Amino acid sequence: MRRVRLMKVFVTRRIPPEGSAALARAADCEVEQWDSDEPISSEDLERGVAGAHGLLCLLSDRIDKKLLDTAGANLKVISTMSVGVDHLALDEIKKRGIRVGYTPDVLTDTTAELAVSLLLTTCRRLPEAIEEVKNGGWTSWKPLWMCGYGLTESTVGIIGLGRIGQAIARRLKPFGVRRFLYTGRQPRPQEAAEFQAEFVPVLQLAAESDFVVVACSLTPATRGLCSKDFYQRMKKTAVFINISRGEVVNQDDLYQALTSGQIAAAGLDVTTPEPLPTNHPLLTLKNCVILPHIGSATHRTRNTMSVLAANNLLAGLRGEPMPSELKL
Ligand code: NDP
Ligand code: DGY
Repeated sequence: MRRVRLMKVFVTRRIPPEGSAALARAADCEVEQWDSDEPISSEDLERGVAGAHGLLCLLSDRIDKKLLDTAGANLKVISTMSVGVDHLALDEIKKRGIRVGYTPDVLTDTTAELAVSLLLTTCRRLPEAIEEVKNGGWTSWKPLWMCGYGLTESTVGIIGLGRIGQAIARRLKPFGVRRFLYTGRQPRPQEAAEFQAEFVPVLQLAAESDFVVVACSLTPATRGLCSKDFYQRMKKTAVFINISRGEVVNQDDLYQALTSGQIAAAGLDVTTPEPLPTNHPLLTLKNCVILPHIGSATHRTRNTMSVLAANNLLAGLRGEPMPSELKL
């Protein structure tokens, strides 16, 4: 009997059960997994990827030239369990003819829901208020105490009116937002029509928004986009929210803006680095709410992402169309 050569697949972390099951059913693959919830070391990643035909990775794995060299010529598919692809050296990957799968759409609603939660938590000062109940700061109903900013009649500026940016706008509209602004590489009149959103330059968006929501992808053009200049243009009463990637924000400048009263508050689901060191200055501020990158973290969405990542990988390895392939 002729023995069929199995394709070697390396998975860089424990993933949700439905994704693992999809990989386990693949009779044509031999799957090795880093069986831990904690990140793989670079040495173990190099060892695991060497000679692999397929790699299923996460946004915390840096897939750079050195790693691709270590992987060698067998590597045909990289499937990331994320919609963001800023951790992948796409030019190098393209040069090598490697196909890339990612997970757009399936996490859009969940991430938008978290963005809205973070925005409301930040602008209505919920962490501070909860703390005051616990520490005895709540002495009476006081007309001037614990006031924040609301969405009614506000202007919301969205940086990146993509899938998630639109889903955020759709959820914010019923709160009584008066005006939506957005910015990006080019106007998107079709998508913007639903919110009568106006395309404006980024600094105009900063100047005219009561709430700024960052929902763009991280690229060379968006790295550090929100820095001193940007915060200086913002209203003193404005609230800044970032759910995209930490590197879009200059955190030192944000700290200055928050401590000098340049802006009212910030809510961040993403930081740089991740995790943010527990002694980071931003964590000392009452007007800064920081979450540990949980935008897509529901049981259902993470399971769906894992299945899509597994199916992308298997389709790519078999030379079939992937459910979600990144065009390189
Ligand atoms: P899309 O590709 O649909 O949207 C990306 C948006 O980024 C587009 O609107 C694009 O604008 C915009 N953009 C690109 N370049 C620039 C620029 N130079 N200036 C301003 N905007 C720009 O992606 P998704 O909406 O699905 O996801 C967006 C990002 O959100 C992901 O890349 C990821 O980093 C992050 N994310 C974070 C999550 C979390 O857990 N916090 C969860 C999921 C995603 P244009 O219209 O001009 O192309
Ligand atoms: C992504 O998919 O890019 C998020 O950051 C995590 O879901």
